[in-house]
Amino acid sequence: MKITYYGHASLGIEVGGKHIIVDPFITGNPQAAAINLSTIRADYILLTHAHADHVLDVEAIAKNTNAVIVSNAEIASYYAKKGFNSHPMNHGGSWKFDFGKVKYVNAIHSSSFPDGSYGGNPGGFVIEGEHKNIYIAGDTALTYDMKLIPLRTKLDLVILPIGNNFTMDVEDAIIASDFVECDKVLGYHYDTFGYIEINHEEAIRKFFDKGKDLMLLPIGDSIEL
Ligand code: NI
Ligand code: MN
Repeated sequence: MKITYYGHASLGIEVGGKHIIVDPFITGNPQAAAINLSTIRADYILLTHAHADHVLDVEAIAKNTNAVIVSNAEIASYYAKKGFNSHPMNHGGSWKFDFGKVKYVNAIHSSSFPDGSYGGNPGGFVIEGEHKNIYIAGDTALTYDMKLIPLRTKLDLVILPIGNNFTMDVEDAIIASDFVECDKVLGYHYDTFGYIEINHEEAIRKFFDKGKDLMLLPIGDSIEL
């Protein structure tokens, strides 16, 4: 499994020969100016919730690629009505796609579209690939529901928001990594706006002091699991 950081909460995942894009917000992020949207490949677009900083580039990517939009039922039907391919899910449910199994899990946040449409309830994704398993938390507070995840899935990587203000901060993310029983953490949802700027060295040191590994990838960089 290969994971590419496209800035903010945008990720590319290559697994099982398929390309997945998560929460594309690229053209609205000056820090991601080097990423060319038209070259992004996608068989699937996974959306954690409907906020603009997670869905801005969905339609452009879906038009380019014909990707299937996977999200909660309300977000999936919002895009289905516009003529896009979609797969509706809801909390606690999982589905075996051709690249692996996806489960939509709880997040504590909100989820309205930029135009005010109802975006259902926000979530995160547990992805079980052929060899590796990851949890993408989405925008969320620290929640005890995270303790349910390792009851079913042994994680190889957890992707957690760390920017504070709209989501967990670094300290809560450290506790979240305890809850999901995974010490390998990719941080996201930080630095994009003034409200969520963080001190990188301090964040990495705080995880290190608890025996955990926090990765903060330069935009465009990838890790291989
Ligand atoms: Ni949000
Ligand atoms: Mn957000």
